[in-house]
Amino acid sequence: MSNDAMKDRLMVALDVNSSDAALAMRDRLGDSVGWLKVGLRLFVAEGPPLVRDLNQSHQVFLDLKFHDIPNTVAQAVESAGGLGVNMINVHAGGGPEMLAGAAQAAADFSDMALIAVTVLTSDTMPKDQAKIVALERAKMAQDAGLNGVVCSVFEAAAIKSACGTDFITVTPGIRWGGQDLQDQKRVADPASAIAGGSDYLVVGRPILHAPDPRQAALEALSFMRSV
Ligand code: C5P
Repeated sequence: MSNDAMKDRLMVALDVNSSDAALAMRDRLGDSVGWLKVGLRLFVAEGPPLVRDLNQSHQVFLDLKFHDIPNTVAQAVESAGGLGVNMINVHAGGGPEMLAGAAQAAADFSDMALIAVTVLTSDTMPKDQAKIVALERAKMAQDAGLNGVVCSVFEAAAIKSACGTDFITVTPGIRWGGQDLQDQKRVADPASAIAGGSDYLVVGRPILHAPDPRQAALEALSFMRSV
């Protein structure tokens, strides 16, 4: 697979606290990556104007993990759709009714994928148990009409075989070359993620804190391409 196809499978988590920092990182990364992920820290600080700005140059995954009563989540999904982002997520722990409400609200935005967090990659649950729970939640998300899930690399292949290859798997918890795991527990390297059935790899601190973030992104891509 070419470098260009791979860069559209790499999502950089912009876990910074200001528009200035986010835009500076966007500019440093340039076109080395296809996706930027906006999470709680940045969205709470800077909100929709920054999201729209980032969406001019990159695809944007708005990672706010909605988890509330079905009506509230459906309304939040509708608001997120209005921002024009390419992917959003809810937490599968909200249950089938919440997931179905989210899917119904997302149906108005055909260019936006809706995915569900299964088990956080920072969860201390044993790996085998995380796999069972993640698989159950992936099936529940699929039944509710969602497009895919966030899971760890360890669950991606089982989810693909149960839910089909079109069902999207997004995997955070990516580390390589002896990098610090920080708060992540179910961790894998970029090549294993691709080999293990991940469609999109989410990388935050290994790129954000690298002396040269673009170089770190290119390094991750070269591991991804080696599979
Ligand atoms: O810095 P690091 O590579 O650990 O960042 C991982 C990113 O992925 C963070 O933005 C985190 O919020 C997000 N994430 C995660 N686990 C999930 C869902 C999202 O680590 N299950």
